Amino acid sequence: AIDPNFDVNRQKVGEENGVDVWGPVDPPETLGIHGTHVAVDYDICVADGACLENCPVDVFTWVETPDHPASEKKVEPTREDQCIDCMLCVDICPVDAIDVDGS
Ligand code: SF4
Ligand code: F3S
Repeated sequence: AIDPNFDVNRQKVGEENGVDVWGPVDPPETLGIHGTHVAVDYDICVADGACLENCPVDVFTWVETPDHPASEKKVEPTREDQCIDCMLCVDICPVDAIDVDGS
């Protein structure tokens, strides 16, 4: 599961699609955690899609991640500023790849 303390245990290494990226990052195998308020561990996400399909405010967008061992696409929390903290995505993800601040 995603480390809920990633913001202290990891370093911010950059930004992609307007979203913070927390390392380590070593593509294509290691992609880190994307987002801060809504955070997705790209190394755990298996592209189930339930988060994206069910988020009431459409926080997530698909991005391609070719040659990543877990899945070749991931969800980017591009509209994390719109999140209403309903926790649906946290509860529904089958591999516990998402952390929402306050959970
Ligand atoms: Fe969307 Fe709710 Fe997840 Fe926020 S907590 S990203 S509003 S599903
Ligand atoms: Fe990935 Fe979990 Fe969403 S596997 S696509 S973060 S439901």
